[in-house]
Amino acid sequence: MDELRDKYLGAVASASDEAALEEVRLAALGKKGEIALRMRELGTMPPDQRMATAPALNALRDEVAAAVAARKAALQDAALDERLRAEWLDVSLPPRPRRAGTIHPITQVTDEVTQIFAALGYAVAEGPQVEDDWHNFDALNIAPEHPARQEHDTFYMARSEGDNRPPHVLRTHTSPVQIRAMMGQGAPLRVICPGRVFRADYDQTHSPMFHQVEGLAIDRAITMANLKWTLEEFLKAFFEVPTVDLRFRASHFPFTEPSAEVDIRCSWEGGTLKLGEGDSWLEILGSGMVHPKVLTAGGIDPTEWQGFAFGMGIDRLAMLKYGIPDLRAFFESDLRWLRHYGFGALEVPTLAGGV
Ligand code: PHE
Repeated sequence: MDELRDKYLGAVASASDEAALEEVRLAALGKKGEIALRMRELGTMPPDQRMATAPALNALRDEVAAAVAARKAALQDAALDERLRAEWLDVSLPPRPRRAGTIHPITQVTDEVTQIFAALGYAVAEGPQVEDDWHNFDALNIAPEHPARQEHDTFYMARSEGDNRPPHVLRTHTSPVQIRAMMGQGAPLRVICPGRVFRADYDQTHSPMFHQVEGLAIDRAITMANLKWTLEEFLKAFFEVPTVDLRFRASHFPFTEPSAEVDIRCSWEGGTLKLGEGDSWLEILGSGMVHPKVLTAGGIDPTEWQGFAFGMGIDRLAMLKYGIPDLRAFFESDLRWLRHYGFGALEVPTLAGGV
């Protein structure tokens, strides 16, 4: 009995992990384990020998089982300690400057725009980049034969042969998100919709993938005056100038009526762009009052509600504000460019701290 006891207690103590411990447990206490076999032999013993052996054997079984349980708990504690030691991370350490990444100007400007409109009560809405024909065109009052479809240089997704449904498109503007927001949230509504858009066009100021931010405000008594004020407030905050001078030029978009393109007064004196002064005008966005057909397509009653919408290029805003000359460089992932034009990851734009 003592021999068994020493053998198994020793084996338990030296088991170095849970798998080894389980082997010891099976060898001692498992169905075919040594102690279990001894207990089975009790039945064949004469009664007095059994009376003497059984309690000792029971005690031995309990002792080994207790030792196994204790060892198991100790091994688990040690494993946890080891894991905690390995996963330990000092979150108060500053980032290593050499390895710090930068925030891309597009992301930065999107955050800045979002901040400014959030303060005006606008939520952010999103939609898919692969859009159906209806959301990208029809619902926005651009019928299949409308010339605007050609102007958009649309990328069409391929359909499998024999599938005659209209193809999906890479959305050509963020305006389809207007429709999704109207259908999803109803009126009144105040949202901006930043995101990627796609058109087959490529030169110094055009990239086949670029970014827009759409604005949409719907209420009972919204007018062009609200649009003008909102755009002025936004542009002053965004370009960090005390005043802006805007020119609303009559224009045409199928989804707004009336429509206006908005120019901002600027000067190019000495080759650098200055906003708010000078004799030049720079076109910066498209806008207008939401067309009644568009409200209807979005499930909103145009006899009760009206609204304004605008759309502008985020990349363009970034080029203007941060003096970046070539749009194509935005998407070339050149590390030197990213380090030069990128923003500190910890300097989140806020209205209080500065955009
Ligand atoms: N969707 C238009 C474009 O991409 C911009 C726009 C949005 C114009 C909303 C008016 C209102 O050119």
